[in-house]
Amino acid sequence: MIATLLPLMPWRAAVAAAIQAQCFNVTWEPSSMARILAMPGTFGWLAMRQCDQDHDAVQPIGLIVGRSILGETEILVMGVIPQARRLGLGCLLLKTLQRMTTGKKIFLEVAIDNVAALALYRKLGFKQVGRRLNYYQRVDGTNVDALILQSLDVSPHDGCDVDACAAAAEEMPLSQRGCQRRGENGAS
Ligand SMILES: CC(C)(COP(=O)(O)OP(=O)(O)OC[C@H]1O[C@@H](n2cnc3c(N)ncnc32)[C@H](O)[C@@H]1OP(=O)(O)O)[C@@H](O)C(=O)NCCC(=O)NCCS
Repeated sequence: MIATLLPLMPWRAAVAAAIQAQCFNVTWEPSSMARILAMPGTFGWLAMRQCDQDHDAVQPIGLIVGRSILGETEILVMGVIPQARRLGLGCLLLKTLQRMTTGKKIFLEVAIDNVAALALYRKLGFKQVGRRLNYYQRVDGTNVDALILQSLDVSPHDGCDVDACAAAAEEMPLSQRGCQRRGENGAS
């Protein structure tokens, strides 16, 4: 298999922070990411892709981080690098989290103008349960509302086919830039 998910442990915080920096304008320092990953109940995965020419090299291409407390899971971060989007990886990461938290409520906050993320969450069964006014501040100083979305014990087969997503990820034509040898920077 070419695209794989690695458990996101605190010692992989630098890789996670680097992916996050490619996905968002506001990023966390590796030390902040490490602190979050070390919090009780926090878990996640890194999506890694095997490089086309050198199968011993892998490239981190996405991440998801959640935190479970008292029967509820909050998604803290999810992103896929721009070059690897629309290939099913976001779906794969979110479905994996849903599978691992069956029976628990999952909730998250998303900017009201984040078309891609809203489409993905709705496809996987999330519904709006609240709204926070002017919750996010953009780099230009404007504010946008956040929607609070929640999914309740969604069937693992709803919304997307995890195996098809993984197969699509295998075929993604990414450049070799950004590939690491296995074992470097926390990737193993
Ligand atoms: C949101 C994000 C994680 C989606 O990742 P992805 O790997 O591209 O998503 P997928 O390929 O799994 O897409 C699954 C479905 O989501 C929807 N979707 C994804 N991107 C979309 C877009 N740009 N426009 C409309 N729908 C979109 C589609 O329904 C898609 O299914 P389809 O391709 O069969 O039509 C990615 O765009 C991203 O990292 N964005 C920046 C970070 C971010 O906003 N994170 C979420 C914060 S709450």
